[in-house]
Amino acid sequence: MKIGIGNDHTAVEMKKEIAAYLESMGHEVVNYGTDSTESCHYPVIGEKVGRAVAGGEVECAVLICGTGVGISLAANKVNGVRAAVCSDTTTARLVREHNNANIIAFGARIVGPETAKDIVKAYLDAEFQGGRHATRVAMLSEIEERNK
Ligand code: RB5
Repeated sequence: MKIGIGNDHTAVEMKKEIAAYLESMGHEVVNYGTDSTESCHYPVIGEKVGRAVAGGEVECAVLICGTGVGISLAANKVNGVRAAVCSDTTTARLVREHNNANIIAFGARIVGPETAKDIVKAYLDAEFQGGRHATRVAMLSEIEERNK
C-alpha cells in the first residue's frame, strides 16, 4: 500500500521509526516532512497530508505531532479526510472498521514507539465493515456538502 506520513518537529524520530516499520511490512512510504527538529507549524503538514489523501496521491496516512491532535485537526479541515487520533490499539482498529478513517494520528509525547507501531498495525490490519457504518460515514460527507 502507498502510505503517506507527516509530522511536526516533536516527532521526527518517531516518524523515522514508523516509516521504517511500514517499509519493513512492504509498504511504500511517502514522507511529507518535516525532517527538522526546528519548531514548525503542524497545520502546514496536516493540510499537506490531508490533501494527499483526499486527492488519492496516497491511500492512507499517518500523522504525528506532540499529541496527535493539532495535526489531525488540520487534516480534518480538508474535505474527504477522516483523521482519527489513537492512543490504543482498540481505537485504532475501530476507527478503520467503523469510521473508515483514512488517516491515523497519534502523539509522540503520548505513546512510545512500540505502542505506536502496534497502533499502526492494528489500523492497517482492520477493514471497514460497511453496512450501518457506511450510512454514518456518508453522513459525514453530507456535512461537508452543507458547508460548501
Ligand atoms: C508543539 O509544541 C505541539 O503543540 C504540537 O506538536 C501538537 O501537540 C499540537 O497539537
